[in-house]
Amino acid sequence: MNILIKNGTIVTSKKTEVTDIFISNGKVLQLGKSLQITEKTDKIIEAGQFLIFPGGIDPHVHMELPTPAGPSSDDFNTGSIAALMGGTTTLLDFVTPQKGEPLPEALKKRTMEAEKSYCDYSFHVSPVEWTDNTEKEINECIKAGITSFKVYMAYKGAVGLEDDSLKKVLNAVGKAGGLVTIHCESGDEIEELRNKYFSEGKTEPKYHALSRPAELEAKAVQKIINFAKEANCAIYIVHVSAKKSLEIIEKAQKKGQKVYAETCPHYLLLDDSGYEGDFESTVKYVISPPLRKKDDQEALWKNIQKRIVSTVGTDHCPFHLSQKSAGINDFRKIPNGAGGVEHRMSLLFTYGVLEKKISLNQFVNITSTNAAKIFGLYPKKGEIAIGSDADLVIWNPKTENTISTAKHHSNCDLEIYNGFKTIGIPEFVIANGEIKVEKGEFVSESRGKFLKRII
Ligand code: URP
Ligand code: ZN
Ligand code: ZN
Repeated sequence: MNILIKNGTIVTSKKTEVTDIFISNGKVLQLGKSLQITEKTDKIIEAGQFLIFPGGIDPHVHMELPTPAGPSSDDFNTGSIAALMGGTTTLLDFVTPQKGEPLPEALKKRTMEAEKSYCDYSFHVSPVEWTDNTEKEINECIKAGITSFKVYMAYKGAVGLEDDSLKKVLNAVGKAGGLVTIHCESGDEIEELRNKYFSEGKTEPKYHALSRPAELEAKAVQKIINFAKEANCAIYIVHVSAKKSLEIIEKAQKKGQKVYAETCPHYLLLDDSGYEGDFESTVKYVISPPLRKKDDQEALWKNIQKRIVSTVGTDHCPFHLSQKSAGINDFRKIPNGAGGVEHRMSLLFTYGVLEKKISLNQFVNITSTNAAKIFGLYPKKGEIAIGSDADLVIWNPKTENTISTAKHHSNCDLEIYNGFKTIGIPEFVIANGEIKVEKGEFVSESRGKFLKRII
């Protein structure tokens, strides 16, 4: 399909200018003012009132994540529709093997699950144990197109790793030139606190938050930075929520260590007052790390401005109320996670750009370009340039919306952003040159593809 987009204001990480775009065969073929196209054109989009961004890249989502309370409620089909409706065209999810399952086999299985996705996708592969084969398996995954791995310092007894195994993963991935992403929370101390609260009869969702204090996030951040330095491995700390963690990350970056930081819209826009109330109104905020204080929110915005934080991912991991209710009498049994993939761009546009916390170019950086660069997808993704994939969001900066469970596209009866007012929605979303969303309607017929990445 050939598409000509006329008179839109293109916003990339570096510039903002009125330019026509001609798309052919899934790529950006021409850029320029008043393009004269001689080739057949299937569709002309008049974009004079719109902004045009590179398609959003969400570097942190969990579709159909297996948990004892059942899988997270969006699969790759519903989750990718929600993503595209919000302007995100590429998803980075996870491969979480069973213990004993070789990483390349788990990768193959996960790739089959993701074939339902309408977005392009890749994965961070999670070694959940260290065996004699793990290094070989990591290298096989790299050959198959994976460049980033994921380890958990929390969730001890499930996917969390002991220090010794963390170091071995960092060494192996560092040697191969890859990147390790880390969930930083000190697992052992958290387990102790969780059990202590429960044994005192403190069973409600707010004890989930109280058992995961900011200090234990910061402590894990410091530890992994030390391990990564020793192993000479680049790291990416997922869902940073605490001011104390940011101070440690900034110090390491200033010393020249390759430490990237991601935060999520919920840490920028919600706070721990969400844990005051009854089970039904507080359980949706049971996420890890938990919501923090207003002071942490401010620090996160400041550190986006200072470019200490490079990306905003959603950690999209929704569960229905019925699933969350597994923990009605024991907060330790509540599956951790909440949705957000659909709202990331509109929330950051409204509360970031329009409130003058970030520029339009910085918005593009944190929603797309930086993730593309960090995860080996640039300039195919995260850029509007000749030869780049035609992944474009044609953004109406004026349309107002109120987020609600009734309107969202996620397969979930809970919504942590219920009632949030936003300004700005995608008028069109184009991925690989195909129109996926047109005037608020999902119109795509073709699925996305696995993105092979190279170190
Ligand atoms: O609460 C969360 N974040 N659930 C998803 C898994 C994770 O820790 O990222
Ligand atoms: Zn996590
Ligand atoms: Zn996550």
